[in-house]
Amino acid sequence: MAYNMRDDIKEVYFTEEQLHEKVAELGARITEDYRDKNPLIVSVLKGSYVFMADLTRAIDTPCNVDFMVVSSYGKGTKTSGEVQIIKDIAQPIDGRDLLIVEDILDSGVTLHYLMQILAARGANSIRLCTLLSKPERRKINVDVDYLGFEIPDEFVVGYGLDYAEKYRNLPYIGVLKPYVYGGE
Ligand code: XMP
Ligand code: MG
Repeated sequence: MAYNMRDDIKEVYFTEEQLHEKVAELGARITEDYRDKNPLIVSVLKGSYVFMADLTRAIDTPCNVDFMVVSSYGKGTKTSGEVQIIKDIAQPIDGRDLLIVEDILDSGVTLHYLMQILAARGANSIRLCTLLSKPERRKINVDVDYLGFEIPDEFVVGYGLDYAEKYRNLPYIGVLKPYVYGGE
């Protein structure tokens, strides 16, 4: 029988409809808050690319978009907190109102340091919008201004989120069947 990616999903956490509804709600709030501010909306790749595409189209005020790629290394060790910028924003940010868009907030380490780096460049304001948050996993407190959903400490895929670079193209968010990880 043909293999369908969706057969690997044990449970759907958020359906396309639920995601669409939440994105519309967040977009409406952001539209109100950033009216006439021409915010710079920055997404951290790759996990947030689907959320970013939907969210920006739910925002009805002029804005600019840009993308960053970062990698955090030394997680869980003394050197944790080092954030390496692999791809930077292509424009100056001094005086700009920044909205960082993330797929999921986990330990908070990457975002904590990323926001420090951006603040040091003289942004007028920096806010954070994350689709998902796993509060149980937090190591460093990060203030979230716009939150989609809180989830328990389970690995989720879909809507941009991957396991081993797969499942980003699932239109909903779910958890994988154990055999995918090499279990039974
Ligand atoms: P922090 O620094 O908050 O990093 O620990 C968050 C990053 O961790 C990854 N992550 C996940 N990726 N499903 C994923 O596909 C998950 O359930 C998950 N939990 C954490 C993700 O790359 C995120 O940007
Ligand atoms: Mg990932």
